[in-house]
Amino acid sequence: MQKLLTWVDERFPLIKVWDEHLAKYYAPKNFNFWYYFGSLALLVLVMQIVTGIFLTMHYKPDTQLAFASVEYIMRDVDWGWLIRYMHSTGSSMFFIVVYLHMLRAMLYGSYRGPRELLWLIGMVIFVALMAEAFMGYLLPWGNMSYWGAQVIISLFDAIPGIGPVLAEWIRGDFVVSDATLNRFFAFHVIAIPLVLVILVFVHLVALHKVGSNNPDGIEIKKKKGADGIPLDGIPFHPYYTVKDIVGVTVFLMVFAAIMFFAPELGGWFLEHDNFVPANILQTPPEIVPLWYFTPYYSILRANVWNFLWVDAKIWGVLFMALSLVVFFLLPWLDRSPVKSIRYRGWMYKTALAIFIVAFLILGWLGTQPAAGLNLIVAQICTLLYFAFFALMPIYTKYDKTKPEPERVS
Ligand code: HEM
Repeated sequence: MQKLLTWVDERFPLIKVWDEHLAKYYAPKNFNFWYYFGSLALLVLVMQIVTGIFLTMHYKPDTQLAFASVEYIMRDVDWGWLIRYMHSTGSSMFFIVVYLHMLRAMLYGSYRGPRELLWLIGMVIFVALMAEAFMGYLLPWGNMSYWGAQVIISLFDAIPGIGPVLAEWIRGDFVVSDATLNRFFAFHVIAIPLVLVILVFVHLVALHKVGSNNPDGIEIKKKKGADGIPLDGIPFHPYYTVKDIVGVTVFLMVFAAIMFFAPELGGWFLEHDNFVPANILQTPPEIVPLWYFTPYYSILRANVWNFLWVDAKIWGVLFMALSLVVFFLLPWLDRSPVKSIRYRGWMYKTALAIFIVAFLILGWLGTQPAAGLNLIVAQICTLLYFAFFALMPIYTKYDKTKPEPERVS
């Protein structure tokens, strides 16, 4: 074994990479529950790719065959139901894990310098993930797949001038059709996963360049011992590899419980209207995206006014796009002298709490008809959503913070 290792190491920097990124990579010693979600996101990414490969072996990207091929996978392919439920449950779990991963960054100010680029790469991953999920949802060619794609692609129609041509170009047809299904298949199966894998690699390279933040939000690299090792750092391996295995175990138990006992999760993970084949003559009673898109869907539908000579629909699209753009700006909106929520004052804590509640309400309202009281509440929550970002330079500057400790507490 030792000989083999030496043979490889003389030809490839195996030990060097192992040491630099695991055995001698020093991470803060105070990681808590919130630090599980990066490794879990990595796990789900691999699971989605592996189950996706097996699904592709039996799935047919053809409007005449797609729906039936998924039913065939569910009923006739050996273990096909398991692979399909792993993939469908995996997509929702991916978003749960990534949302918690992002919330962690907001709790501990992980997006702040020197990790701005790490955060920006993360945001690009998030947008790519949304595109991946959106395109994957068309593939089973259920009625919600069809109408969901129809609604979202027709948003491009709203762009003045080029809109209609652009929407037609995206679909490859005047309506969502076989051409659309084929190109979405190509993007979902190879193009976007490839981009995601590359982006995640770059994300980790950026992380290891600057080192992890931690729940105290202080830089461990500032306090090093005589040996050059951060005083508050511990080797990633074995300490955090073991810790992450605990997280993976608990996560897989939750995952299995959902997958085996409630794979549709009452319509939240697999919508009821998608058990009906696509029908271009029958719109579902309410066109609703899966839960992870509903906050943005609510923001899209919240504006009903034409103003500044611009159509209400265009404003809706702009607000929805802006709701993602503001996340990219976070590192530069936050003026607080401290990073972690542990040392921030009441202003940031209140603002973050209001933002989370508004986000959850928007998510719920996105599944409901946008009229009457629902619409008014969605408008208020949209306002609160944007206020969190727009007012951040002010409330983070004037917030009364506590002094950060010198060392990890
Ligand atoms: C496929 C999706 C993703 C994967 C596999 C992934 C993976 C990871 C891993 C393994 C870590 C180190 C462990 C940890 O801190 O939990 C990490 C850290 C981080 N990620 Fe991600 N990530 C993903 C998406 C995102 C997104 C969408 C964002 C934000 C927009 C983001 C922002 C960050 C930040 C700021 C850190 C450093 C956190 C800290 O040190 O406190 N990541 N990521």
